[in-house]
Amino acid sequence: MKTVLVTGGSQGIGYELAKCFAQDGFRVILAARDPVRLQEACANLQNQYQIPAEWISIDLSLSDGAEKLYESVKDRKIDALVNNAGTGYTGKLWEIQGSAEDAVLGVNIRALTVLTRLFLKDMTERGEGLIMNTASTGGFQPGPYTALYYASKSFVVSYSRAANQEARPYGVSVSCLCPGPVDTGFYDKAGGKKPFYAMDPETCARYAYKHLGEEVIIPGLLNRLVYHLPVSLKTGFVEKRKKKELQK
Ligand SMILES: NC(=O)c1ccc[n+]([C@@H]2O[C@H](COP(=O)([O-])OP(=O)(O)OC[C@H]3O[C@@H](n4cnc5c(N)ncnc54)[C@H](OP(=O)(O)O)[C@@H]3O)[C@@H](O)[C@H]2O)c1
Repeated sequence: MKTVLVTGGSQGIGYELAKCFAQDGFRVILAARDPVRLQEACANLQNQYQIPAEWISIDLSLSDGAEKLYESVKDRKIDALVNNAGTGYTGKLWEIQGSAEDAVLGVNIRALTVLTRLFLKDMTERGEGLIMNTASTGGFQPGPYTALYYASKSFVVSYSRAANQEARPYGVSVSCLCPGPVDTGFYDKAGGKKPFYAMDPETCARYAYKHLGEEVIIPGLLNRLVYHLPVSLKTGFVEKRKKKELQK
């Protein structure tokens, strides 16, 4: 039986991705902070798909969070890693709390980088495996009033694409999932307003799972079309939307 580790797998896009792997017969390990949500998510996966599901409560914003997570599973054969945990914020970059900045740097960039490196080493040595890193369509242009979040997702796009080029010859793929707005609890936590056209997380995850192994995965036809628009146009749209949210 193959095993997948999903960070941020207790809810939202991560949980829906975990469901896709479970439906395919994978043993699932979910990692996030809240043990109650994790326990509930695992119980649901076990009941619905009759697969073993485990959870690990870990704060990936901490400087040793990613290393601790790796240590706790390194003796197991992890066939697939989904680096999906992420956090955001809304505000002028000189006004946001240092803790929000640390969380974005820690979870979106550091933890994803460390976990990709550690698991890629194991996978390339075995000559098989797959990694999916969750970025965002926000990774394709600057995001005024959520600057660090968008920049962190640009990092994920660039890093994952390069990682895929390096890992491919060893039989390992690194995909970069770039969703547009998705209807999860993310916006409430990040202080933004969820657009009315947000995609449901199940549709997003199912599309991503179907395209697993591709270098860049963009769920939603509209998002794939918008990808081709000039960066200045997209940045201007984000600036207007975020400014409005801040004024409210
Ligand atoms: N929703 C969107 O519109 C959208 C669009 C593009 C990309 N994304 C990206 O998609 C990914 C999933 O987001 P989502 O929309 O599904 O959000 P979500 O429903 O809020 O889920 C976020 C997940 O990450 C976990 N997490 C957050 N901070 C963590 C930390 N410090 N340590 C460990 N786990 C942590 C959360 O669990 P705990 O809180 O219990 O830790 C939860 O399981 C993120 O990377 C996000 O940036 C979202």
